[in-house]
Amino acid sequence: MQASRIAIVGAGRVGSSFAYTLAASGLVREIVIVDADAGRAEGEAMDILQSIPFHRPVTVRAGTLADTAGALATVITAGAAQRPGETRLALLQRNVEVLRGVVEATVRANPGGLLLIATNPVDALTWTALRLSGLPPGRVLGSGTVLDSARLRVELAAHYGVDPRNVHAYVLGEHGDSEFVAWSTASIANMGLPAYCSATGHACTQEDLDAIALRVRNAAYEIIRRKGATNYAIAASLMRIVEAVVRDEASVLTVSSLLQGEYGIRDVCLSLPAVVGREGVRRILPVPLSVGEISALRRSADAIRDAAAGLG
Ligand code: LAC
Repeated sequence: MQASRIAIVGAGRVGSSFAYTLAASGLVREIVIVDADAGRAEGEAMDILQSIPFHRPVTVRAGTLADTAGALATVITAGAAQRPGETRLALLQRNVEVLRGVVEATVRANPGGLLLIATNPVDALTWTALRLSGLPPGRVLGSGTVLDSARLRVELAAHYGVDPRNVHAYVLGEHGDSEFVAWSTASIANMGLPAYCSATGHACTQEDLDAIALRVRNAAYEIIRRKGATNYAIAASLMRIVEAVVRDEASVLTVSSLLQGEYGIRDVCLSLPAVVGREGVRRILPVPLSVGEISALRRSADAIRDAAAGLG
């Protein structure tokens, strides 16, 4: 595989978990870790580097934003995190300021790379990063509902007693309180949920599905209430996106990216199933959503825009 470098900006819980996941994966040759606290970035790089004899060779080093030069993608996790009970949108004001400096310096150093945003609120900040960067829309993406869709597959897999890899189901819209499950496209072993339920004799009540969607939407609140942050599943989600980029997989992932008229929505970043490869988002797939799901998507777009409008 081609030698590849990935830069990670922000060495907090999410950035460091992702850095370790990426180092252990053997996917890339070089990982650069950048943090406003240079000592923290160095400490994480040293710690991760000492695990390398147990994985495959990779260079892990601390750097500055100038060292994002040449990275295939810069993954931005820097910024304030949610406190218990706080919504993602409440972080917007604080994290726009963080992103401004990071995005401008990163694009100056590395105009050819992708930006992958994980900082919350991820949709509004993906839009902000796109505008600040001046990059083409496909080259700026957010982790979006890749994580929520994973949580949904875990819940459905447990409910129906099958491997989550055989469950295909998407959480779409905002990575946050206005997200929704696109039940009309959900399938297990190529059967839509109603067909799966009648074939297997499973009860398939709307109450069950509503309870699952609620648990998915509230998952981060539940985890933050207990351990103060979420880090492993978001790190794995970032890993999956970066893998699709590095290996040019054309994987369908619910990343956040700019809508340009899909479902009549434009000028907002949110999650829809998108084809992701080395050049970023290749295209958004026009999945057949129900009328109710399209309304939910529009409400979600409005919620993201309203939050951004509040910034002035
Ligand atoms: C979560 C954070 C990353 O959903 O927003 O876990």
